[in-house]
Amino acid sequence: MAESLDPGARAAAEQKARKAARDASRTDEATGKSVGSKDIVPPWEMGADDIKLVDTHAHIDGEDFDGDREEMLARAKAAGVVAVVTFGDTMEASARAVALAAAHENVFAGVGVHPENAFPLSQAEEDRLAAWTKETRVVAIGEIGLDYYWEKDEEKRALQRKMFTCQLALARDLDMPVCIHDREAHGDLMTILKTEGRKNRGVIHCFSGSWEMAKELLKLGWYLGVDGPLTYKNAAKLPEIVEKMPADRLLVETDCPYLSPFPYRGKRNEPAYVRLTADCAARIRGESLEAIAEQTTKNACEIYRLKL
Ligand code: NI
Repeated sequence: MAESLDPGARAAAEQKARKAARDASRTDEATGKSVGSKDIVPPWEMGADDIKLVDTHAHIDGEDFDGDREEMLARAKAAGVVAVVTFGDTMEASARAVALAAAHENVFAGVGVHPENAFPLSQAEEDRLAAWTKETRVVAIGEIGLDYYWEKDEEKRALQRKMFTCQLALARDLDMPVCIHDREAHGDLMTILKTEGRKNRGVIHCFSGSWEMAKELLKLGWYLGVDGPLTYKNAAKLPEIVEKMPADRLLVETDCPYLSPFPYRGKRNEPAYVRLTADCAARIRGESLEAIAEQTTKNACEIYRLKL
């Protein structure tokens, strides 16, 4: 970037460059044509030599995958996804995630209760979560956190905070990383992470905050997960954050069956599509897909202690 540009012009030029990088990921390299709904090559047909990705946040226990779960995992493998971390969002879903991890060598699980399902956790339920963390390939407490987008009632938001801090404490007691959901609750999230949660470690998944917030979280030691919305035209602040943040804290994830990346937006998401988000991140950072895959997989292995 020319140094003579004033800060405003430089910011505009940088934004333009990021947009161009993102748009390039919508273009078929062989033809130079924009990827339309026709001639889309699915990730499992792209070849996976030298590509080792981890989908670090998925929900593959639900009925969306009941018809093709094994095929979906095979497609992920063919796309270069060597592991999937699937998260429970209720006690029942956590039990299913634990069972999936036990049954598949490339599936790892997180157990926890999501803020949208907040209820006062009994001691028996806490004990059950703790017991699950001793099972095969269970690597985290999650998905936990705060969701003020769906919850407008102040009493229920207070219950979410109570449940969140309770599960943070459990994770500290068990020395487990956490996977955190934060939707429109940035202020309270930061307050909690700086007080009760200051000794927790883990991931803020599907990060949706500002660069300022990202910097604070990085300073506190947190990892940031990015999903399909990175590839959307209205990705807003996320491309800038992906470009600027240190590579050793970046994770790629699907949050499937939700949040499909381009060009599958609006359709069911699945772990193989994490490759499209990784590819977009690679282009934004000016790196190869192989390099981003290697780095983000290393990060996933560090924070979730995955043995691949
Ligand atoms: Ni999720």
